[in-house]
Parts: sequence; structure tokens; C-alpha cells
Amino acid sequence: MIARRTIHFYPGELGDVYAAMIAVPDERAALLAAFEDAFTRHMGAGHAIPVGSGRLGLRLMLGALGIGAGHEVIVPAFTDESVPDAIRAVGATPRFVDVDRGTMNLTVSGVAAALGPSTRAVLATHIFGNPCDVKGIGGLIEGWSDVALLEDCAHAIDASLDGQRCGTFGRAAMFSFVVTKAVNTFGGGMVLASSLELAAQIRQRASALPEPALGGIFRRIATGLTLSRATTQKGMRTALGVALRSFDRLGVDPVALYDRTVRSSTQNAQADNALSALQAAVALPQMRALPAHQARRNAIAIRLRQALGPNLTPQRMLPGAQHAWYFVVATTDDVPDVVRRALSRGVDLGVRPMRNVADDPSAFPNAAWLETHTVQIPAYPELSDMDVARIIAALRR
Ligand SMILES: Cc1ncc(COP(=O)(O)O)c(C=O)c1O
Repeated sequence: MIARRTIHFYPGELGDVYAAMIAVPDERAALLAAFEDAFTRHMGAGHAIPVGSGRLGLRLMLGALGIGAGHEVIVPAFTDESVPDAIRAVGATPRFVDVDRGTMNLTVSGVAAALGPSTRAVLATHIFGNPCDVKGIGGLIEGWSDVALLEDCAHAIDASLDGQRCGTFGRAAMFSFVVTKAVNTFGGGMVLASSLELAAQIRQRASALPEPALGGIFRRIATGLTLSRATTQKGMRTALGVALRSFDRLGVDPVALYDRTVRSSTQNAQADNALSALQAAVALPQMRALPAHQARRNAIAIRLRQALGPNLTPQRMLPGAQHAWYFVVATTDDVPDVVRRALSRGVDLGVRPMRNVADDPSAFPNAAWLETHTVQIPAYPELSDMDVARIIAALRR
């Protein structure tokens, strides 16, 4: 049984966690500074500010830019629900725009039609790690001096367009480090600001927030590690795999149940806090491993996409786009059947990885269609070549 996704946390990191636990205050600051530094070096530009979650990062970015009541922020209708929530939390209004069915991202023409006198920002989102036309959107709003280009890089820590890293195109970008992300701090995020002035304003707001309680972080780590064990090949062959197949026969989706219970306890919903030094320590070895993991994700994704059968259409990429492969997704007209068949061949495909989050979902037909027609194919770096061959065999049938 091959899991749809797994979490990325390696036993070698436990030493760093322990070191962070006993770190004296000076070393704690140094750990956070080291994470910021590693992140900025990875991005090659900008000023990084660690935060407690991606959604908090978005709120801080908007607040620092003076975006609030009476202002609109253009966002894709196909995204995570925390995005419109964050915009509303600063008093602004999300202005939803439908996405392209192929790329699953915003289009320049869609953004152009939504721009108006109240627009203060466009949140260019690279969904599943697939770079959107952020250059086209940037060009479009060049003449709109009070509209900021922002990027949602929650999925896109290692994506680029024409050789430029996603996250460096606009005024600021935010990243997310929840358990399933390529860098996992058991809830956490980063803002990358383009200028020192904006970074200082965001940092001032971020540093006013308390560090999360250590007990809470350890609870998240414990839950995350349980999750990680359950979704290893062995876990999927035994306990979780057996549960998946028997629940499937009963018509109950055990993974949805699992997501609502175990996984939701490791998510970021309440993370209105600073990122702790402990989390920075957990992140550091992952930053070092990122290039190798990303190369492996890329190799797996290329193989999978080439092998998809005629009933599965891969996410379309723009010329010059380097996908980060947070998720390898494809669309199909028959999600339940494809998922059931794959499961019977030992491959667990994810469904509904993103939602149509608009207030009036029927007004956004592509987002609505994608919500119910997208499957997520396992493609995490820990998969062996043999696993990939098994996934391909299951998808071809
Ligand atoms: C597209 C997108 N944007 C923003 C977020 C918010 O990130 P976080 O969960 O770290 O708050 C998520 C969550 O995963 C997301 O999927």
C-alpha cells in the first residue's frame, strides 16, 4: 500500500530538537537567525521573517501594507480556505477570480477583469507548487500604483519561473511549513519581503506575538510522528492499509476521517504566534536536505506525468515553469472510480486537495469543477523507483 502523502521529518533531526530544547536564550535567537539566513540564501533575494503560520504571514503582510477595511484583495477561488479568512481578518474583502482548468491558477485576463478602484493587492498563488503567470500579472498591475503584487507560496518553496524563484516577484510572499509541506516545522511559516522597510514593519508585528508553548509544539511533534509512522509503507501495509480497504468496502472514507481528527490537530489553524527556536531547529536540516529532496520529487513527477493514462490529465505548466511538486495532481471525469481502482491496487490517491472557497461557489465554474475532479498522486521523495513503478501500473489500468 502506498500512501498519498507523508510527512517529512527524519530521525536525525531529533538531535537538533533536543539541542533547541536546552538552548540558552542567546542560542535560541541564533537558531531563528540561522533559519532566516538559510531561507534567504535558498531564495537568493529578499528579507525573511519567521512566523507561526502561512495564514498569519498573509495577515501580517496585508497589515504592514496598510490593507484593511474598504480594500479588496484579488485571490483565486481555488485555494485553501484560510486565505480568504486571513483577508477578512484584517478587515479587507477577498475578491475571488476563477482559475484556469489546466494550470489551476489565476490568469492575467481573470485578474484584469477583477481590478477596480478598491483593489489594493493581488495574491498570485502557485497552486500545488505550479508557478502561475506572476510575471504577466505583475506587468498588468504595473500601472496601478496602489495595487501590490503578493505571492502565496504556501506550496511553492522550490518553484521558479524563467529561472526566477517564486516568492521574489512581488512586494512580499508567504510560505507554509505544516506537516505535509516540503519543509515541516509542525506548523509554521515564513514571510519574504522585498524591501528592508517592509520587512522591518512585518518583523515588528511578528515579534509582538508570543512564542508557542513548548508543550503544544511537542504535542504536534508527537501527533506528526504518529502520522508519519502510520503512513510509511509498512504502516500502510498493516494497520492503516487494512483500515483503508475495509472502510472503503463499507463506503466510508477513512482518510477523510483521519484528516479531520489526527491531521487537523497538527495544522496551523490557531497559530497566532511567533515561530519558536525549537521549530527553527527542526527546519534547519530540512533546508539543507531540500535540494536533494526537490531533485527526487522532480524525477518522480516527470515519470508519473509521462505515464498517466488517457483518463488522467496532468496539471498544465507554463513554459519556463519549474514546479515545486508539493502535490502531483491530475484531473479526471471519474474521481470515485479512479480512486477505488487505485486503492484496490495498493495506491491511495488523495481527493479534494484544494477547495472552491468563494462565497458564491457557483459563480466560479472552473474552481468548482477542479474541486471535484482533481486527484493527488503520491510523489514524495521517500518513494523508491519500485514504488513509482507500482503507482504507474495502478494508474495505467
Ligand atoms: C494555498 C494555501 N495558502 C495558504 C495556506 C495557509 O498556510 P498555513 O496552513 O501555514 O497557515 C495554505 C495551507 O496549507 C494553503 O494551502
